[in-house]
Amino acid sequence: MNLTLRIWRQKGSEDKGRMVRYEVADVSPDMSFLEMLDVLNERLTLEGEEPVAFDHDCREGICGMCGMVINGVAHGPEVTTACQLHMRSFSDGDTIDIEPWRAKAFPVVKDLVVDRGAFDRIIQAGGYISAPTGSAPDAHSIPVAKADADRAFDAATCIGCGACVAACPNASAMLFTAAKVTHLGLLPQGQPERASRVVRMVDQMDAEDFGGCTNIGECAAVCPKGIPLETISRLNHDLLGSLSGADAK
Ligand code: SF4
Ligand code: FES
Repeated sequence: MNLTLRIWRQKGSEDKGRMVRYEVADVSPDMSFLEMLDVLNERLTLEGEEPVAFDHDCREGICGMCGMVINGVAHGPEVTTACQLHMRSFSDGDTIDIEPWRAKAFPVVKDLVVDRGAFDRIIQAGGYISAPTGSAPDAHSIPVAKADADRAFDAATCIGCGACVAACPNASAMLFTAAKVTHLGLLPQGQPERASRVVRMVDQMDAEDFGGCTNIGECAAVCPKGIPLETISRLNHDLLGSLSGADAK
């Protein structure tokens, strides 16, 4: 396939940034989206130009690093990560726009790379337990209802990619925060901090300048791990219970 790419280039946080057009030829439909960018970057490097900066690590859909907006959609046309998106999702002759996550809380570092440190600080605010759980065999001695274990695991699959924020018109981090609150709040080991955790994490989310949730649902629509909107209901339930002094059940 021969493609036209229009990529956001921004030298640093102070630079205004602009879309730059590139032509790429002979792209295999079997390449991943990041491999296609690798081919472009090899060429730019050989031509003495600055390669396009983008984040990536595992390239297996598990680290959440490869955030980018592709043709206006977080991670592009499939509900997956950019590293798991393949060029067969596009057609010969296509023009593809590639931009960084757009959110006040995710400032652009360079080109497609944004600073997602705000997510780390939300986790630091409450994403931990104090209960001594011992080694793995000891952990098995604490009975957890299968339904709770499954729901906690589903929430724990959140990879912190930030697509939910990028897709939300309010740039809200509610789905991410709710996933973190939920995966600990459903387990017996997570109960001692359950009431304070949700307050601290939501406070930190607000302090980081993420927007408020108005139940639009774009977050869940693009989440590569299928974190459902009901996770946000659970966060709100725990938050209201905590603020009103009621036990969250
Ligand atoms: S909730 Fe989904 S979209 Fe948001 S950070 Fe977690 S995995 Fe990514
Ligand atoms: S590079 Fe790790 S999820 Fe894409």
